Amino acid sequence: MLKRILVTGVGGAPGFDLARSLLRLDCKVLTADADPYAAGLLLAETTAHVLPPATDAGYRAGLLRLCAKARPDAILSTVEPELPRLLALRRPLADLGVTTWLPERDAIEACGDKARFAAVLTEHGVPTPRTVLPDELDRAPDGLLVVKPRHGQGAKDVYVCRTSEQARVLCELIPASIVQEHVTGREFTADCLVDQAGRASVILRYRLLVKGGLAFVSRTFTDPEAEQCVRAALTATGVTGACCVQGFIREGDSTSRVVITEANARVGGGFPAALAAGADYVGQYLRGLFHQEVDHDQLTYKPDVILTKYVETLTTSEGKTQ
Ligand SMILES: Nc1ncnc2c1ncn2[C@@H]1O[C@H](COP(=O)(O)OP(=O)(O)O)[C@@H](O)[C@H]1O
Ligand SMILES: [Mg+2]
Repeated sequence: MLKRILVTGVGGAPGFDLARSLLRLDCKVLTADADPYAAGLLLAETTAHVLPPATDAGYRAGLLRLCAKARPDAILSTVEPELPRLLALRRPLADLGVTTWLPERDAIEACGDKARFAAVLTEHGVPTPRTVLPDELDRAPDGLLVVKPRHGQGAKDVYVCRTSEQARVLCELIPASIVQEHVTGREFTADCLVDQAGRASVILRYRLLVKGGLAFVSRTFTDPEAEQCVRAALTATGVTGACCVQGFIREGDSTSRVVITEANARVGGGFPAALAAGADYVGQYLRGLFHQEVDHDQLTYKPDVILTKYVETLTTSEGKTQ
């Protein structure tokens, strides 16, 4: 039967591309975003809905109203701040016949909060940049420092500085920030799918050209050590479903060749690279969503497949309503 899937966050690349991939799999796609200008709301053959932001008091009522009216079979969210809200709404959504596949609360927090993520990985012995909070700056690592928001996304408000004095000023400017050892090397993303039993498929790609936090050019590769570190990060956070894990492969003889920098409990913006490389990433995500077994044999991939993304004009129209 044709599934009706509500994709949230279609203003960003993950949601936009997920909606498009689902259309190609013959799903009936409903799109949602908090921003009425979100590009994905204009995707052909979808029905568009504007929802209150996840941080708004009106989100719960807005989402339940939408679901009661539009009756999706499932929700796939690409908006991390939405995940705790969706988790709390699991029951009323299920009562409306809406399926969700969400990580547990601890896993959502470990992925959504970079300070927590660093602590969890360190506890589990997974290599991650040394991280301190603003009031622990006297314990900051030597060398270049990265200051960034603990709940940030899209590389917004990420700064590199030289001294702890500079870091102190940046911490005053960036709300809820963390200070991290600066890592150099080749940056990669792993498009991961973790099934209900905790078994994971991991598709690695280098982030060759990054603009505004999005990998515009990616190339798939294999690297057993990077894969092993990604798996360890998935286990440490306890995340299930789709997750994109990011890290660096360092050059030179540093203690750990691979370091993991963050994980997002959603599809990554460059996941079409995984599809192009032969992995049935969205098809298997759908299977897991509807409680069917994820077939990890369908998630193998070819290395050296290159994805190039481009910003284009989606549509033009006339009117004053917007
Ligand atoms: N510790 C670090 N060392 C070097 N570069 C970093 C570090 N942390 C972040 N960056 C750079 O900033 C980008 C955004 O940081 P990230 O932690 O991925 O946050 P988000 O993508 O959620 O904004 C990364 O893709 C990376 O290029
Ligand atoms: Mg990132």
